[in-house]
Amino acid sequence: MGELTRLAVLLSGRGSNLVALAEACARGEVPAEIALAISNHPAAPGLERARERGIPVTAIAAKGLTREEHEAGVAAAIVAAGAEWVCLAGYMRLLSPAFVARFPQRIVNIHPALLPSFPGLEAQRQAWAYGVKLSGCTVHLVDAGCDSGPVVLQRTVPVLDDDTPETLAARILEQEHIAYPAALRMLLTRAWRLDGRRVVFD
Ligand code: GAR
Repeated sequence: MGELTRLAVLLSGRGSNLVALAEACARGEVPAEIALAISNHPAAPGLERARERGIPVTAIAAKGLTREEHEAGVAAAIVAAGAEWVCLAGYMRLLSPAFVARFPQRIVNIHPALLPSFPGLEAQRQAWAYGVKLSGCTVHLVDAGCDSGPVVLQRTVPVLDDDTPETLAARILEQEHIAYPAALRMLLTRAWRLDGRRVVFD
């Protein structure tokens, strides 16, 4: 196997997607290693999950900083870690166009709904409240909009009559943990291009 791609994972909370990515890398399913986990919340449980796995972590709190200052710190940490790809894993901050432009087509996000339905916060609750019968998750390239970049991979789940937002979110999360490593594997191992906003694998 060739060189491992170095990833930076940005998170704000629990970190289950970071764990799924780390385990897929460790199993050799994704030819990458997580070079750094970064959180905007110093107390994010996801940082502890990273530490347990020997992944270097850094917290860059946004409080008291302008968006530009905060993002400059995040970008500097990514570059210092030698990371080429940036994986958002429950990172609850919108990235500026300038930040996105620093890592062109190298920032990936996972969203807990079938985009373009239900972007933004509490997507699982939005889908549940709307009454859709299918939902799921989307892995997409990040552009300067909110959950608006080109779709790489989606996985679906049924929405059941007796679901609550919580049971639906748990069913979606299981699929997130499959979808994120699978999408990253595709992006890192296959030739792909953008045709308009379609991610096309050759
Ligand atoms: C995941 O459900 C992820 O899809 C969602 O936050 C959760 C993070 O969980 N992301 C968003 O809603 C982004 N708009 P995790 O910290 O256990 O990976």
